[in-house]
Amino acid sequence: MILSENLKTLLSIFHHAGVDEIISCQPYDRFQEIEDTLQLPPPQLEQKPFQTAPLISPKAASKSAETSASGAQTLEDLRAALQAFEGCALKYTATNLVFGDGNPKARLMLIGEAPGADEDRQGLPFVGQSGQLLDKMFATIGLTRQNFYITNIIPWRPPGNRQPTPAEADACLPFVRRHIDLVSPDFLILVGGTATKTLLGGREGIVRLRGSWKDYTSEMGKKMKVISIFHPAYLLRSPGQKREVWLDLIKIKHSLIEAGVELRDAC
Ligand code: URA
Repeated sequence: MILSENLKTLLSIFHHAGVDEIISCQPYDRFQEIEDTLQLPPPQLEQKPFQTAPLISPKAASKSAETSASGAQTLEDLRAALQAFEGCALKYTATNLVFGDGNPKARLMLIGEAPGADEDRQGLPFVGQSGQLLDKMFATIGLTRQNFYITNIIPWRPPGNRQPTPAEADACLPFVRRHIDLVSPDFLILVGGTATKTLLGGREGIVRLRGSWKDYTSEMGKKMKVISIFHPAYLLRSPGQKREVWLDLIKIKHSLIEAGVELRDAC
């Protein structure tokens, strides 16, 4: 009796829920169907080989970098040489080669670390958040990308924006050195610790090295002045350091004026 009352209630619930047709005399456990599906092996997706190591050994990479970089007679040659270079695996995970931007005839050249996500997408250096801060910083002393040229130590984005390894920086160094000689600036600004360490070597970090001009002799023997400044990405994380960068920018401005470099009215 109680059972039939319960069944009536259940039928009524089904009916109100729109269940108005019997499709089988046997119950069907749909929860079990889901369980069974979950236990199936995952579908086999097409496996794309993912290149995570350079195609050549570090020794061969260094030799190949030296040869192809020194053979580049123009910036376009150098770009093509980098496109063909197989000694840095970052190339295989990046979307674009990030070569350089700005005025290649400028007397001032800036060198940063490596592209981030925005740079990788657009194929241009320093166009993301830290690049926008860098542009603002240099605009305060009357400099825009019309009067400086800018590139990076590494021309491909490291996955997840991690710091490039010293091995990756070394592999790309001959190209950076050639890049400097092809632009042939009088003043070099190393933006951040990686550019400073890679080009100046030595044990001292950027905190000690920033703030004063040093002499730099390029691969082809051209003498230039070099200075290191904090990276804008660091300033975004530690705004308390902006004062130091401001002092460095003023120093840079005075040296450029002394050397007859034309600056726009600072904004
Ligand atoms: N940081 C860099 O060092 N370089 C870029 O191009 C962008 C961010």
